[in-house]
Amino acid sequence: MGFFRQLSLTAKFILGSLFYLKYQLPAFVYSFKRDRTERQFASSALPNGFTQPGKLLQAESSSQGARFYFEQAELEITFLASDLVRIKWSPGIAPIPYAIAHHDWADVETQLAETETGWVVSSSDLKVLVDSSAHLTFCNQAGQVLREELPPKRQGDRWIHQARLQPEECIYGLGERASTLNLRAVEDEQPSSRSYRMWNFDPAGYDPGTDPIYICIPIYCGLHRSGSYLTFFENSFDAKFTFAETATADFEGGALQYYVIAGDPPQLLERYTQLTGRSPLPARWTLGYHQSRWGFRTEATIRDEVKQFQAHTLPLSAIHLDIDCQVGHRAFSIDPKRFPKLASFTQELAELDVRFIAINNPGIRSSRESNLFLEGQVLEAFCTDPNGELIVAPVWAGRTVFPDFTKPKVRAWWSRQYAYLLEAGVNGFWHDMNEPTVFATWGDRSLPKAAQHDMEGRGGDHREAHNVYALLQAEAAYQRLRQYRPQQRPFIVSRSGWAGLQRYAWVWTGDTASSWGALRQTIATVVGLGLSGIPYSGPDIGGFQGNPSAELYVRWLQMATFLTFYRTHVANNVQPRAPWTYGEPYLSIIRHFMQLRYRLLPYLYTLAWETSQKGYPPVRPLFWFSWHDERLWAIEDAFFLGEALLVYPIVQAGLRSRTAVLPQGQWYDFWNDTVIEGDQTVELAAPLDQIPLLVRAGSILPMEDHDQLILHLYPLQHGTSEGRVYSDAGDGYGEWRLDRFWMQRNEQGLTLSWEQQGDYDFHYQGVRLHIHGLSVKQAWIDGQPVAVEKQQIEWQRFGQVYLQSEV
Ligand code: NOJ
Repeated sequence: MGFFRQLSLTAKFILGSLFYLKYQLPAFVYSFKRDRTERQFASSALPNGFTQPGKLLQAESSSQGARFYFEQAELEITFLASDLVRIKWSPGIAPIPYAIAHHDWADVETQLAETETGWVVSSSDLKVLVDSSAHLTFCNQAGQVLREELPPKRQGDRWIHQARLQPEECIYGLGERASTLNLRAVEDEQPSSRSYRMWNFDPAGYDPGTDPIYICIPIYCGLHRSGSYLTFFENSFDAKFTFAETATADFEGGALQYYVIAGDPPQLLERYTQLTGRSPLPARWTLGYHQSRWGFRTEATIRDEVKQFQAHTLPLSAIHLDIDCQVGHRAFSIDPKRFPKLASFTQELAELDVRFIAINNPGIRSSRESNLFLEGQVLEAFCTDPNGELIVAPVWAGRTVFPDFTKPKVRAWWSRQYAYLLEAGVNGFWHDMNEPTVFATWGDRSLPKAAQHDMEGRGGDHREAHNVYALLQAEAAYQRLRQYRPQQRPFIVSRSGWAGLQRYAWVWTGDTASSWGALRQTIATVVGLGLSGIPYSGPDIGGFQGNPSAELYVRWLQMATFLTFYRTHVANNVQPRAPWTYGEPYLSIIRHFMQLRYRLLPYLYTLAWETSQKGYPPVRPLFWFSWHDERLWAIEDAFFLGEALLVYPIVQAGLRSRTAVLPQGQWYDFWNDTVIEGDQTVELAAPLDQIPLLVRAGSILPMEDHDQLILHLYPLQHGTSEGRVYSDAGDGYGEWRLDRFWMQRNEQGLTLSWEQQGDYDFHYQGVRLHIHGLSVKQAWIDGQPVAVEKQQIEWQRFGQVYLQSEV
């Protein structure tokens, strides 16, 4: 054995032993301690048998609904809007409304009437039938049944809720899942049973099928032939959801309080995000490309990385720093030895239009040398067991304690810690390990369920606080960023969260494998997140945990070009990865897609504005616009970006074409303008430098090129369609404008009119119209003839354009 090989083996052995002593041994010890705590404070055994509500004794109307008294339970039905009803069964610990953003609902006219079998409470849009043995049936205006619920069951603190599903019914949501898009798998045309756990969890790497993962939200949408509805259980306790012939929600504790919304998919998301809050408009730069790596250890590495982007003429909006920029992996630290002049460094990056995003984990190193630890101790900020002993567990920083974010004082204290990094020019934060995750050799990688939490003063334990932990951390950060930098919109990315997270943070899909399966999985995961109210998410491009082939990386990046969060990130034990890693011809293809992403910014930003207004996710399932088309219900390898773009990514090695099930309407092939009739299945070409991308006929697709706004017109055969472009300064809370365009197509040609709203100045130097699918003979702008070159017209502002087509 050569000397160097010997040396390298010795070094590996020493590092391995250090790792063992630092992390693995403590993880082993922690697992014992956690189990001991669980045993010591285990809640009393569940009583045998279930209680059910029993017979209905009395019904009475209330201001916005009705109250029902059963032998063993009470039921309160409240209409918050004509299509949104809140159902409250008691007894049970009432939830703290962490998820809820809207409390002042306008009055809704409701009626309570007696029927042959019970009662009906109704609004103009929704009827809830309550029978004498506590079955609930939800019907739409037309009287069609949307959802049928069985009487709930209670066993000790546990609640079991069941609803009958229609045979063809599909189920979507539950937050972030590495599952099929339709969570109710169908095998041999029969629904087979599938279960999902509601417990935010770091699987330490995952593949399709792993459950649970980081963000579990008890929300789902049901879609069947009579319509669609959304159910959100306002209960953060550990639970198991099973979809078979029935949908069962089995909660370990808490109250059975839930909401049912009726409507088509866009209405469901609009109403749900009114209830739990919408994502505020992000700064425009956030929609650009982000480069991350577990491995940017020094200023010099980052400077070099940014130079590479310039040298390869690749656009870049942000650099993300992982834990290796910190001092001993400690929260809120950046190592001054390796980042000696942080403020001037962030300034240097800002001058290049690159933002600096720093990681932050919630655990704090338990050490008397840590001021954060000492301050937190004084404030009684950390989670303890029921005897008041601090819970200490190993994470990256070593022996770590955990702030109790359910205590308002702790959120305020935590949020103050962001100040000095903001002062040093840090532009945003990514919150990692916030399920919260600890290192354990077996069992749950989190705090013991008996860990105590303040729960806004009313007291509670980790069974209830676990799933809202990251949500409250994000809230603390968001409030601080708003206060501290009132003229910049906060940017926070969180790995974990719960209902309402969309108010504060974006999401990345964690430690995915570098495999084709994981690439395909990302689509269902991101679309499912959107249907759970979380519109901004994306994967580590190329996967976190491996070395993708050049082809896999290219295909992954091509797909991610059409997702909201566009970031490459990798683990520290694999090859560093950046857009140039694979050389040519891959680099040119990647550059082309990254440039396309930046040209699409007016479209993406307008979608983001729409999200802030309506709560619609920019990335949508294929059934979004035509929910009655059953062919589209289970498609999970394609998606819409907004209304105009239909994306069919390539998710298999070696494929150079793929089949695409087209929704109704007409579609333009983005790459060559071929018009394709919808409502059929077609084969689309996918050479390595393209992925199938279709544009809906009728779209006005806004793009930009330097200081020119480019409107790509994709006319219908006949009829009128509308396009919109939202703009503002790109950050802050100042003036805005909305440019609205109407395109009217008839046999002779096409008319385009422009209407403007808002006070923000039109900031483009000019407008270029690019006409697809219609050969232009002559054109007039506001009555003046103008030149058309290669189907394009350049102008400044206009009221109306008329284009005469060649016959
Ligand atoms: C786990 C995160 O999911 C990953 O993105 C990060 O690189 C590592 N933690 C190290 O901080």
